Amino acid sequence: MTIRTIIEPFRIKSVEPIHGALQTERQKLLEQAGYNLFLVPSEAILIDLLTDSGTAAMSTDQWAAMMRGDESYAGSPSFTRFRQSVQGIFGFRHVIPTHQGRAAERILFSVMCKKGDIVPNNTHFDTTRANCEFAGAEALDLPIPEAHEPSHLHPFKGNMDTACLAETIAHHGAGKIPLVMLTLTNNSGGGQPVSMENIRAVKEICRKHGIPLYIDACRFAENAYFIKLREPGYAGKSPREIAREIFSNADGCTMSAKKDGMANIGGFLCTNDDTLAQQEKDLLILTEGFPTYGGLAGRDLEAIAVGLNEALEEEYLKYRIASTAFLGNHIAKECVPIVQPPGGHAIYLDARAFLPHIPCAQFPGVALANELYLEGGIRSVEIGTLMFGEHATMDLVRLAIPRRVYTQSHIEYVVEVILEVWRRRAQIRGYEIVEQPKFLRHFTAKLKPLSS
Ligand code: F0G
Repeated sequence: MTIRTIIEPFRIKSVEPIHGALQTERQKLLEQAGYNLFLVPSEAILIDLLTDSGTAAMSTDQWAAMMRGDESYAGSPSFTRFRQSVQGIFGFRHVIPTHQGRAAERILFSVMCKKGDIVPNNTHFDTTRANCEFAGAEALDLPIPEAHEPSHLHPFKGNMDTACLAETIAHHGAGKIPLVMLTLTNNSGGGQPVSMENIRAVKEICRKHGIPLYIDACRFAENAYFIKLREPGYAGKSPREIAREIFSNADGCTMSAKKDGMANIGGFLCTNDDTLAQQEKDLLILTEGFPTYGGLAGRDLEAIAVGLNEALEEEYLKYRIASTAFLGNHIAKECVPIVQPPGGHAIYLDARAFLPHIPCAQFPGVALANELYLEGGIRSVEIGTLMFGEHATMDLVRLAIPRRVYTQSHIEYVVEVILEVWRRRAQIRGYEIVEQPKFLRHFTAKLKPLSS
């Protein structure tokens, strides 16, 4: 008999107690927070699935490496180890450390874009879009049509629509498009992977027109593992070999090491272009720091150097993808509507289908996220009408799983809470906004439940 149970490939050396607030206290806490989960103190949360960013548990090797951190302002050996680790996986000539992903984005777009430019992406993450627009360019999303249908099963739902890309270039001219980006995995589109075939096809179009291709590499290891599992010809390759092949098609990348860097802070920008690298380093010095630390402590560079390699370990990726799929499959089995198939770092509930009696203008995603908190102390995040306003094409609730933090029984608990909320869904009411800022309103808006 073969053993089929997939276990966490680690044991726990240091524990962090979680209590959360009592169920009877949650209603009051939520009311005080203006029914916005971003404003609830984290001690009052039992299972925090707000984000997988910067929330990973570090390994013993990472903690040991941190002790080696050399905090010299310039020329630290910690930077040398960081650069070696990044180049060993990503293969780019220049490695520029930044304090997190959005700093890499800001520098990249400041150097490459001007007013009136267009930057196509499978789907821009919100900070990517904001930084692109801040540089005066238009952030254009070109996902395949299947990406807009939550229940549609597609092995690589993160793919870019290559026909649309070719059309965009033909229509506007290559001179208006300073770079094309691919986000791996596609976070805003459900954590869905991009296939190697699609990466190659996008690169081929870019090459024909002399446009550089950059990869938003936040969840590159999870994307590489999906390619191994789902794309013909890759089953026998290691995630590391697949990652090398992915990046051999690109001219550079932005990275938030808070995701597949397994670190609590950090990021980087890579490029093969010597001229751009110089301009990027000049900007880096202005706001981030000297090019051998880029706003990070030497010990952070050490943690990332080790973490990037751990994220590519096959046993880890097998557990990671299985754990996310376990959550998705167990609720989908009971007919709870989710974005299919389960993504790498998160499960996305389809709030419009979950709460069809709540119109989009009454924020079904907020209503669902708040119920999960009231029922079980779980924090998730709305990705829908509150976040994107009337431009939202879906109302989703993302349950993002921090790396190596929660065990199987935590996930089983989350399944049970979701199913309990699903059973009483007809009683759930919508919300209205009481107070909101001018931009990025989802972080601080205050809401109140509607009475009927
Ligand atoms: N790109 C993608 C695809 C992301 O998911 C994020 C962050 C960033 C860029 C920016 O990186 O936070 O280090 O500045 N995503 C987090 C999330 C915040 O919750 O999905 P950062």
